[in-house]
Amino acid sequence: MSALPGDPRPFYRCHVFCCTNERPAGHGRGSCARRGSVKLRDYMKARAKELGLSDVRINAAGCLDRCELGPSVVIYPEGIWYQCRTRDDVDEILLRHLCRGERIERLMMMPQDQTADDIAARQPASTAAAAADDR
Ligand code: FES
Repeated sequence: MSALPGDPRPFYRCHVFCCTNERPAGHGRGSCARRGSVKLRDYMKARAKELGLSDVRINAAGCLDRCELGPSVVIYPEGIWYQCRTRDDVDEILLRHLCRGERIERLMMMPQDQTADDIAARQPASTAAAAADDR
């Protein structure tokens, strides 16, 4: 949906929602907080401030219903979803997506993705090996 004539100017250029939902250990779907999302969200907020991204709002969010793929991040108004597991992933999202308007295909969640393995399967071998080391 696009803006209508007469709508006020948006407060922010982008909103970044970072799931910080936590489920009990052993829950079948897992949860983003158990994969480190709270610290990653805190890091993203601090780095966004350092980069002067005052027109971007980094928000904690409840469950975004992509639990098996998380830690989950979604950026609006673009509606682009990312799996964000490391500080390097945060830096790449900030620098490439939010500063340069690019997309980070290796981190993107696609509608057909059911598990983290589906995302990993799209990655080049060198990137997949590095990601496995982060786990
Ligand atoms: S727990 Fe993060 S998307 Fe559901």
